[in-house]
Amino acid sequence: MILTVTLNPCIDKTIFVTHFQKGKKVVVEGIKKIAGGKGNNVARVIKNLGHEVLSFCVVGGQEGRIIEELLGQDSIPLQAVWAKSPSRTVTTVLETKTNRQTVFVEPGFPLSSSEFQEVIATYTHLLSQTELVVLSGSIPPSEEEIAGTVSTGMGGTAHFYPLEHISFADKLGRKIPDGKERRAVEHIFPMDHPSAQVGLSQRDIYAEMIKLAREKEIRVILDSHGEPFRQGLKAAPFLIKPNVRETEQALGLTVRDEEDLFGAMRLYHEMGIEWVVQSLGKGGALASFAGKRWRITVSQVPVVNPVGSGDAMVGALAVGIARNLAAKECLRLGVAAGAANAAMWDAASCSREDIKKMLPQVAVEEV
Ligand SMILES: Nc1ncnc2c1ncn2[C@@H]1O[C@H](COP(=O)(O)OP(=O)(O)OP(=O)(O)O)[C@@H](O)[C@H]1O
Ligand SMILES: [Mg+2]
Repeated sequence: MILTVTLNPCIDKTIFVTHFQKGKKVVVEGIKKIAGGKGNNVARVIKNLGHEVLSFCVVGGQEGRIIEELLGQDSIPLQAVWAKSPSRTVTTVLETKTNRQTVFVEPGFPLSSSEFQEVIATYTHLLSQTELVVLSGSIPPSEEEIAGTVSTGMGGTAHFYPLEHISFADKLGRKIPDGKERRAVEHIFPMDHPSAQVGLSQRDIYAEMIKLAREKEIRVILDSHGEPFRQGLKAAPFLIKPNVRETEQALGLTVRDEEDLFGAMRLYHEMGIEWVVQSLGKGGALASFAGKRWRITVSQVPVVNPVGSGDAMVGALAVGIARNLAAKECLRLGVAAGAANAAMWDAASCSREDIKKMLPQVAVEEV
């Protein structure tokens, strides 16, 4: 069984309108709800590919019940930690004529320390039945973030660490003498910066979860962003799937070309991460594993909504890995799932058939 972890799930609600004008009365054509939060998106694709999955979520209130019901409609079993605060709703207003989207993202509520402890205890218990863990998406905001005193970098503009963008050459040790590369890696994690100590005790929850899984020799896929992703990297998950922005944020650098991306992937490996899949939106992906590197491309897809393509890709990669497919086939499946997702509206709702149809469009070359 693959365990997906969604610490900050949501009701993913789409409101369909012909035209949205700020400050005007808008007639709603239709409403659709699915179980959201990136881990739940991943769970849907794993389920659609016919693999056993369990969605582990922190949910609360009436909204939490709705998330449970929506997962049930997708035949995805839920293991919940019930929190006292209600789950959030992420609302997308979709203008059907132009395909323009306006998204309202509720941040969610902080976990109390007893809820946090229950999350860790339940997760630890679930590991005994788990073959692979997928940690996806944001974590609930801390009290300090709600109060506006700090940011985890999950959604706001401010970075939790004031990372200056040092040159890529310095960071990769590309043009600097031997021995400096290690220092470059340390620069990525300036743990002793005073702002790092400000009351975000839960920001390293992913790192803790990776550590617990590793102790049981269970592989972990981490797909997140901002500070929880950076903290999670330190615990060396088995596989990561950042997009370009996430890599730039996590490593504090600016990506100019493919060589930079391969350099970033070397850095990730140096941190102990075995599999790196660097997604590139419609450009496909680059990947690196066991000393091999691949470029994966996909021919033109009629794009409807690429949101959730990364989640679809992670779900398919998880299934490929759990089924011990060859690396090249995992990558083909992952890119096909991402492309299949981009060709439809609902996030990560592509069926096995949709993904299968995309497979011949995907080219995987070793580079
Ligand atoms: N427009 C597109 N056409 C074809 N394939 C796409 C398109 N967008 C994404 N994909 C496929 O999906 C994969 C993941 O997409 P992307 O890099 O956008 O992930 P992401 O930014 O993590 O997305 P999200 O977080 O919204 O799920 C890509 O590597 C690619 O294979
Ligand atoms: Mg993503």
